[in-house]
Amino acid sequence: MDYLKRLCVILLAGTVLVSLVGCTMQGNANMNIEKRLFGKTDQADVVHIYTLTNANGCEVKITNYGGIVVSLKVPDKTGKLGDVVLGYETLDKYIEKSPYFGALIGRYGNRIGKGKFTLDGRVYTLAVNNGENHLHGGIVGFDKAVWNAKEIKQPDAVGLELTYLSGDGEEGYPGNLSVTVRYLWTDDNELKIDYTATTDRLTIVNLTNHSYFNLAGKGDILGHELMIDADRFTPVDEGLIPTGELRSVAETPMDFRKPMTIGARIEQDDEQLKFGLGYDHNWVLNRYDGSLRRVARVCESTTGRIVEVYTTEPGLQFYSGNFLDGTITGKCGAVYQQRYGLCLETQHFPDSPNKPDFPSTLLKPGERYTSTTIYKFTTQ
Ligand code: BGC
Repeated sequence: MDYLKRLCVILLAGTVLVSLVGCTMQGNANMNIEKRLFGKTDQADVVHIYTLTNANGCEVKITNYGGIVVSLKVPDKTGKLGDVVLGYETLDKYIEKSPYFGALIGRYGNRIGKGKFTLDGRVYTLAVNNGENHLHGGIVGFDKAVWNAKEIKQPDAVGLELTYLSGDGEEGYPGNLSVTVRYLWTDDNELKIDYTATTDRLTIVNLTNHSYFNLAGKGDILGHELMIDADRFTPVDEGLIPTGELRSVAETPMDFRKPMTIGARIEQDDEQLKFGLGYDHNWVLNRYDGSLRRVARVCESTTGRIVEVYTTEPGLQFYSGNFLDGTITGKCGAVYQQRYGLCLETQHFPDSPNKPDFPSTLLKPGERYTSTTIYKFTTQ
């Protein structure tokens, strides 16, 4: 009997071991990078799309045109994979017209008032592409650049290293800026983005990613519950340029310190919400010291999907997709109506080059700009 019991235990342990090893092996077998032709630009540059699959079988598609995150498939609470970012299926559509879907943004994410700033006593004039202001790097920003791409394979992640040399004077910015963006898609379902840049002349830099998330994969984002770890935000004027004030969020619709649905207060009679047609503001994140910390969390209750944002940056632009207006048809024929996607753009504050009291966006020759952001996907 004793012998039989022991045999049973050994057999059971063996089975557990084999299935554990099997799982891990199967996990590793899932990890993959597939490179496909995505198309050609008008300048005949060949563009690829890379499918990064992690050990869980979850996948992110990224193209080297604009460094765009084209799709991002993560499980819901029942394990069903769904695409949680807005975008298109073809390169041509991205080239034709895109409100920065999933793109890398540079040299300066967000707005610079009147497209002007002064460095060392010299006034620089940038391309103006948003009323009288400069937005997201100008007319041909990093979102429209064809980046060099190199695949990354690590034991616990797959990724893509994108590099781009932005020439002196591009869109009006001084200095040759050499930029590297590393996307890593980890086995913890984290999309990690590391940005670095160096320059040969004094310049300004503020890089970000412009993914529009919809954790339900359809409909509007008003029922998504949002938390932002910020006691203050930067109020703006009608052109969405910060006034320079750091205003407390207390007793305003900007208070997301406790989780709150996006739709709960978006229609309130509030001057700041009117200027943005909803949320389109920069939050002054708490505990900024250049280290990585969790700054925001979004939860969608019907699917149980959650995205948490970690960053080294001082600011976060929460944009509730107010300018989407149903004129864009995206993936799988989806018509993107107002507020069908939300952006959480980690960044330095808008118009920092003209606001000496804001954290500096200056980059000097010999220095290295670094910034890290993680979007981590889980369920509840
Ligand atoms: C800005 C919006 C702008 C959008 C463009 C956001 O980052 O804050 O004002 O309309 O980008 O898609």
